[in-house]
Amino acid sequence: MSVTDSAGHNATSGVTETEGALVFPTGFIWGTATASYQVEGAVDEDGRGPSIWDTFSAEPGKVLGGDTGAQACDHYHRYPEDVALVKSLGLDVYRFSVAWPRVLPDGRTLESRGLDFYDRLVDEVLAAGIDPMLTLYHWDLPQALQDMGGWENRDTAYRFAEYAEQVFDRLGDRVLNWTTLNEPWCSAYLGHFTGLHAPGRTDARAALVAAHHLLLGHGLAASALRAKMSERHRLSIVLNLAQVRVDRDDEAHRDAARRVDGLQNRLFLEPLLHGAYPADVLADTSWVGDWDTVVQPGDTELINAPLDLLGINYYSPTRVEPAEPEFVSGGMPGLRGVRHLPPRGPLTGFDWEQEPAALRDLLVRLSKDYPEVPLMVTENGSAWADEVRPDGTVVDPERENYLLGHLRAVHEAIERGADIRGYLAWSLLDNFEWAAGYSQRFGLVHVDYETQKRTPKSSALRFASVAAANAVPA
Ligand code: NOJ
Repeated sequence: MSVTDSAGHNATSGVTETEGALVFPTGFIWGTATASYQVEGAVDEDGRGPSIWDTFSAEPGKVLGGDTGAQACDHYHRYPEDVALVKSLGLDVYRFSVAWPRVLPDGRTLESRGLDFYDRLVDEVLAAGIDPMLTLYHWDLPQALQDMGGWENRDTAYRFAEYAEQVFDRLGDRVLNWTTLNEPWCSAYLGHFTGLHAPGRTDARAALVAAHHLLLGHGLAASALRAKMSERHRLSIVLNLAQVRVDRDDEAHRDAARRVDGLQNRLFLEPLLHGAYPADVLADTSWVGDWDTVVQPGDTELINAPLDLLGINYYSPTRVEPAEPEFVSGGMPGLRGVRHLPPRGPLTGFDWEQEPAALRDLLVRLSKDYPEVPLMVTENGSAWADEVRPDGTVVDPERENYLLGHLRAVHEAIERGADIRGYLAWSLLDNFEWAAGYSQRFGLVHVDYETQKRTPKSSALRFASVAAANAVPA
């Protein structure tokens, strides 16, 4: 089964409700996801070079508990067991990412042993009857490229396109689903404005420049890959979009929502899908000064490369209110006069707000504003303080509820006309949750980091039965 061309698929009219079950369209894709730095470990093996996350996590105070991805889930060695877990859950798709510093340790020289690993992984996934979905960049930039300016340097976009081609040349005969970037908002803003993520920069202009170079990298990679792709290949990008919530429907609140939506959503969506940066966001970010030299002629045309699928990662709504004009938001570069509000209950174990209706509204809005591109929920999930019980089981009803609630929301969005091709739970495994280290467990499968023992949680079994039925209880 492929991500977008399953036979008989009719996402816009295929949903039904029978005997208390919400049935998804025939061919709806069920899957789960991981990312290289979060699960692989083996950071010094087979010629891998350092990534910005090795550097960042080694710096005291950057990651909770001083945790690093040096071991993580040891997926580099245990991938057969992990792929077998995906198979045991009966899922269609396994989404994973390639570590750029395994393939090009110094940013330029090919290390074939790095590609050998993904070759083995892809073969294992295919042998299990699972469709691989490959992300080229899930945040682990080679440190060597960061040393030359990283995403603030336009050259990194060109390096990314070269890297994409090299991975495609090796795996394109077997991998049909290709995603360029995962959540460029995070790479740009958390990496360059708040400094909460690698490379830890705190410069508003750098964040916007990085955002453009990430999108340019996507565009350059998209055109390089498209030239090599057959009709059967599928090209996508994955965005984390905010469903912005305000408490009042007056002009000030609407304006606050519009500006947050602009910086978080439309700054990425509009060039990707409509070929131009949105004028209101450019006006709001005019303090960048020389945006015209950053965005060079031809860039937006490249970024506007045709997409076969738009991946959406959604966890929680974003609440804001208007603030005094001079109030500077800590959350997004150059955002003034808007205050982010704390999450409201019910919260997850990570204190993230749970609001499935926000996912529904986001998907419906996207399907109206960008009807030309099919959607897929490429990440959705929640972290809880899961523990292995004395009988060896892990019971996580909170995660089951979160999953079911959000799947009902996806079903509702399909009923309202959104073309949604599938749902991937984040994550297969508990793993390295970036600045929160190993303190947050998002997995369907519990990982004991001392022994590396995997234990499917009750939510994994629940998710497997939903996938098998292609339906959620109403
Ligand atoms: C989105 C990111 O893609 C993933 O790496 C992360 O673990 C989850 N959000 C949860 O924060």
